[in-house]
Order: sequence, then structure tokens, then C-alpha cells
Amino acid sequence: MSPLLLVLLGLLVLVLLRGRTRRVGEPPLITGWIPYLGKALEFRKDAHAFLEEQRRRHGDVFTVYIKGNYMTFIMNPLMYPNIIKHGRQLDFHKFTNVVAPYTFGYPPVDDVRFPGLGDKISSSFHLLQGSNLTLLTESMMANLMAVFRQDYLNEASDHWRTGLAYDFCTSVMFEATFLTMYGRPPSGWRHPGMGPMKDDFLRFDTMFPLLIAQTPLWLLGNTEATRLKLINHFLPQKMSQWSNRSKFIQQRAETFDQYDTLKDMDKAAHHFAILWAAVGNTAPATFWSMYYLMSHPEALQTVRQEIQDVLNQSGVQICCDRDIVLSRDQLDRLLYLESAINESLRLSTASMNIRVVEEDFHLRLDSERSVAVRKGDIIALYPQSVHMDPEVYEDPQSFRFDRFLVDGRERTDFYKDGQRLKFYLMPFGSGSTMCPGRHFAINEIKQFLCLLLVYFDLDLDHQQRTTLDCSRAGLGILQPTKDVHFRYRLRTATDHHSPPQTTTD
Ligand code: HEM
Repeated sequence: MSPLLLVLLGLLVLVLLRGRTRRVGEPPLITGWIPYLGKALEFRKDAHAFLEEQRRRHGDVFTVYIKGNYMTFIMNPLMYPNIIKHGRQLDFHKFTNVVAPYTFGYPPVDDVRFPGLGDKISSSFHLLQGSNLTLLTESMMANLMAVFRQDYLNEASDHWRTGLAYDFCTSVMFEATFLTMYGRPPSGWRHPGMGPMKDDFLRFDTMFPLLIAQTPLWLLGNTEATRLKLINHFLPQKMSQWSNRSKFIQQRAETFDQYDTLKDMDKAAHHFAILWAAVGNTAPATFWSMYYLMSHPEALQTVRQEIQDVLNQSGVQICCDRDIVLSRDQLDRLLYLESAINESLRLSTASMNIRVVEEDFHLRLDSERSVAVRKGDIIALYPQSVHMDPEVYEDPQSFRFDRFLVDGRERTDFYKDGQRLKFYLMPFGSGSTMCPGRHFAINEIKQFLCLLLVYFDLDLDHQQRTTLDCSRAGLGILQPTKDVHFRYRLRTATDHHSPPQTTTD
């Protein structure tokens, strides 16, 4: 190699290593020494610990260079309201318009070929809420009940059976959600091949973090083929034969049909993306709610009693050969259950709220402070740092099922530096881009747990513990590092009417 080329290469390396320099008014800059990756490896290893360490060193606001992006983390929840209301100069969809199409395999929604498509997709989100939420919740109740009845309540015997808790939650929630969203097949009520489809879904989901990071598909083994298989389930000619589909999916299908420029595979990929949105976080959230309740028998008994009380108040006799229907109103009255689910979400969520900076400007943090940010940079909120802050939540590592209750009502006052927090629990994101399926998600987790607790005694093998797999930090609800065995048996008529007992024998 010629000396000149060597000098040029050396200069290039120096420029890469140096990256950009901090300007006056900008937050402290942490770049690391690895070109392009920056601090990516340390962030990926344990994002929460990494960010807490940076907070200790640099204060509440700092910029970290991660995989080619300059990310400014806002670590003080008292600053969140200012960030969240900055709609004009901070954009969420700029990020999702690139990452989601790459991950799920549809063309970018903001492409000139699809004028107005993004707005139409966003307007479909209201069909997950309000009066439509009642319809969705009723449909989910019926589908969950049908899956439970067919797969778990058909054996009239009351002997203990064993299962794997994560597998159990994923199978039931996957099938019931699929039926609720996309409808039933032309004959029978179950779609053939749900098991293999769920397995493909989980295989795809394992690769989700790499897809979100836009890793080239050729490096991801069979992922592209698995994704294609999944997308193929949603081709319009197949979906048109299904009945009872949700209004949400119905409206989206009609919207896609208005665009000749969208190919059938593109439409199907959009439907597949919604399946991921509806199950990808809900299944692990259901697992953690079930796991924490099983690990805390006192909490489980209180919640079970609450469910029985609500059912009894409506004159429902509970027995294993009778189906249970809980209305949306009844679900709303299950406050202990809701608190237990919120507590599980607090402990298991590690989502990151991301906004892209639209122009160079000064971002106001609070009444006294602002920082300069640059166009193209990312502003990130990392709610796990609030969820695990001992000043906000006493003994934050413990599961306290009634943490979100006070005097029989929902507790909403949590404090930092003596000031009441507006944002203290954020598993569903924040502001205008908050998850549109959040109310449905809470309802379906409640429904699942109601059926589980009312029909079954549960017993977790206490030798078996699992922990949060932090490798997906930043992407939503964390998964367990390993699945756990549990035992379940039908509760008898006497169990339903006697005072609560412990489940271990
Ligand atoms: C426990 C379960 C769930 C969790 C933790 C969760 C969490 C989230 C989060 C963090 C976001 C991004 C919000 C932001 O960055 O501001 C999101 C977006 C979204 N979620 Fe959920 N979600 C759950 C269940 C659901 C369900 C059941 C559905 C649908 C039936 C759903 C549909 C969506 C959609 C469509 C978006 C994209 C919204 C947009 O593009 O503006 N989610 N969710």
C-alpha cells in the first residue's frame, strides 16, 4: 500500500473515531471509540444499567452515539411533559416509516405512490377504542372462552396437569387474538394450522430486534422465508373467506383496496404487521402477569376473590361446564386485577419512546433549562428508568400487586423531587403516538387471567424462577430468559364457593 493511501486511511479512521464534536448548548456527548457502533454494545448488554451510569456521570440529559445515530436521552420524568408536547419539531412517524416497512416487508407508507395512506391508517386506530372497544372485548371474550373450553376445559377430571407458562400464554393469546382481529374460517371456528403459524410467528419474533436494527436480510438465515410464509396467510383472496372480522381490520382492508399501487403481498404484509403489534407485546405481558400472580399466592387469592365477587354480584354461578362472560363494565370493576397487571407491566417493560428532530432548535426541558439539538438526531425517553426509580416506586424490584390502588381506588399520585409526576407508568408509549391498542390489551389480559383463575387452581414449581431477558431492551415488553413449568387443575364447585385457600399442596 502506498504511503499516501496509508495517510488517507489513517485520516479517515481519525475522522470516524472522532465523530462530531459537542457544540455550545448541546448536552454532554458520549461517543465511544468503535466507529459506527459507538456505545451500541454496552447499550445492548444492559440498557438500563448503561443509562443509569451515564446519568450519574453526566446528569439528566446526554447524547449517546449508537449505531450511526446520535440519541439524546432525557432521564428525568419531570421533563417528559415538555418533550411529549413538542409535536412540531419532533416526529415519531419518520422513524416508523423506515423501520416498520423494512421489518414487516411492505413499501414505505409515505411513498408518493400511496397519497394519504399514512393518515388513513392512523385514522383506523380509533376502531380499537370507544364503542368499538366494547365489540372487540366481547369478541375476544368469546374466542378466549372457546379456546379454553376446547383445549383445557374438555377434560372433566380434577387431576393436576403440567404446562409451560410462556407457551400456554402465547398459544392461547395468539389464537384468540387472531380470531378476534381477522375472523373465523369458512367452516368450523378454528383456523387450521394455528400451531405451526404461531411457531413461525415466534421464530420471526426472535429476529425482531435484528430486523428493527435493519440488519441485512441475507444475514438472518430463514427469516425472510418465514416472514413470507406468515404474510401469505393474509392474502386478500384468503381473508375474503373469513367471517366476523373486526371493524378495525375491515376498515384497513377497504383502505388498502383503494390503492391500485398496493400489491396483494403489500396488503397482506400490512395485516401481518398488525398481528405482530397485537400479539408481540401482549403475549409476554400476559405471561408476566400470570407468573407474578402465581409467585405471590396472597395476591393471586385476592385477585381471584375479586373476580368471583364481581361474577357473583351479577348472579353468575361458577362451575367448570358453564361458560363465563365478563362484560367491559365488569372488567372495569376488577381493580386489584388491573393493579396487578399494571405492576407486571411496570416490571417487565423496556420500551423506548423515540422522536426524530425535524430541525435544529432548542429543546425546552423545564422552566429554566433547554438544550440545543440537531436535525436528524433522536430524542429518546427510557421509561424503565422511571419504573425502577426507588424515589418514585418504593422497593422498585418487588412485585406489589396493589401498588396502583389506594383506598379502593386507582392510585395516580407518584412523586419525584417532591413534585407529582404526570408520566409515571409508560408501557404504551406517550403523547399522540401512544399505543392505540392499550385499552384492548389490558382488557384481554384481564379476560385471560379471569378464565385462568376462575377455572383452575395454579401452582408454580417454586424451584423454577425466570428473569427478564434484557437483550430486547428498548423494544417493548421483555421476554423471560426461560419458560417455567406450572401445574393446573380444574377447581371444583366447592372451591368456587368456599373462602380462598392456598394452592400449593
Ligand atoms: C401489553 C400490550 C402492548 C404493549 C406494551 C404495547 C406497546 C406499544 C408501544 C410502546 C407502542 C409505540 C408507542 C410510542 O412510541 O409512542 C405501540 C404502538 C402500537 N400498538 Fe401497541 N402495545 C400493546 C398491545 C397492542 C395491541 C393489542 C394492539 C392492537 C390490537 C396494538 C397496536 C399498536 C399499533 C397499531 C401501534 C402503532 C401506532 C402508530 O403507528 O402510531 N398494541 N404499542
